[in-house]
Amino acid sequence: MTALARGVGPDFLDAVRTRLGASGTGEALGVVVDAAARDVGAVLGSSALTAVTRTVRDELFGAGRLQAFLDDPEVTDVLVNGPRDVWVERAGRLTRADVDLGGVDDVRALAVRLAAAGGQRLDDASPAVDARLPDGTRLHAVVPPLAESCALISLRVVRSRAFTIEQLVASGTLAPALVPVVRALVSTRANLLVSGATGSGKTTLLAALLSLVPHDERLVVVEEAGELAPAHPHVVRLLARHANVDGAGRVDLAALVRHALRMRPDRIVLGECRGAEVREVLAALNTGHDGGCATVHANAAADVPARLEALAALAGMSREAVAAQAASAFDAVLHLRRADRRYVAEVGVVHRAASGDLEVACALRVEPTGVTTAGPAWPSLAARLGLPVGRAVTGSRR
Ligand SMILES: Nc1ncnc2c1ncn2[C@@H]1O[C@H](COP(=O)(O)OP(=O)(O)O)[C@@H](O)[C@H]1O
Ligand SMILES: [Mg+2]
Repeated sequence: MTALARGVGPDFLDAVRTRLGASGTGEALGVVVDAAARDVGAVLGSSALTAVTRTVRDELFGAGRLQAFLDDPEVTDVLVNGPRDVWVERAGRLTRADVDLGGVDDVRALAVRLAAAGGQRLDDASPAVDARLPDGTRLHAVVPPLAESCALISLRVVRSRAFTIEQLVASGTLAPALVPVVRALVSTRANLLVSGATGSGKTTLLAALLSLVPHDERLVVVEEAGELAPAHPHVVRLLARHANVDGAGRVDLAALVRHALRMRPDRIVLGECRGAEVREVLAALNTGHDGGCATVHANAAADVPARLEALAALAGMSREAVAAQAASAFDAVLHLRRADRRYVAEVGVVHRAASGDLEVACALRVEPTGVTTAGPAWPSLAARLGLPVGRAVTGSRR
């Protein structure tokens, strides 16, 4: 295999591309690679053919040399700062990867190709893209002059793990005292807001909660990227679309929430409330759609009102209007904290204070040890859920 001894180069990739274009019959890639190798005088044994085919697939259809990282189940982010400056986040730790992407031009070409795979154009006229690759991976890329000298590529792998409630209890994410509470929140069709910082486990907790929804209900999920993976037989998903290369065709989350309402949902789920679509969600939850859920970014449960106000301001809503609508829309807030592990630290109730301000009153507070204590809003939440008031205060999990 002399011609391929130094690895798969641009000429070989071009030859495969030409053959693929010419065959037009959807011939298996391995067959095409084998034929292209014979053309250059290389006869590949079966294991070499498998390896070369994989490299060709990664280079032509995947993320090239970055694909192996994206395929690693531990990896959540792959960041390219330069040809030999590639960082990979595994289980929350960022380390430099031993990989050589060639030159600055090769990195730019990779960014352009990935953007195209996500239906976007990346060039001097539009030097930054935010796209979703066909496998769901989120791509952000910028090229000079917005980037200093080399294209910058940020890939975030969307890997949803469906945890059961029991697994969340076993891993310390859910204090045992919260189990009857979250079950009752779902079974009584409460409208829920899951809050927390980035990476605190909001999407994961929401998927676990949705897995508790009775199987005769239809879930309509609106998302930016297809992340939420509840264990439920009846889930349909609407995904936002960025503008195409001509700047047209954008369909935002707000429009998708309006579509979702016409799709006979039993529950409307907004994967992450991050903009003006909060107005549509509040309107939906205030007009008889119950059992709705959304996640929202907030560093503490008490910050949720300010976050909702800021998002609603993007939709032109006044503080007053948000306070009135959010207080009646949401029944409970489940707030996640990320310390040495991720855990639900507070269950709150959204209400309006005497001053008219929107507030999250604490119903249950969970210590890092799992000790759960009742707050001022617990009696009313317990009554709403049909749970005994005395049950909430429990000792340590261990
Ligand atoms: N309770 C948990 N236990 C272990 N890993 C978790 C837990 N919750 C989330 N994770 C992991 O943490 C990462 C971020 O979780 P995610 O739910 O996407 O967070 P968020 O939506 O708050 O940004 C994912 O890789 C996910 O698998
Ligand atoms: Mg999330």
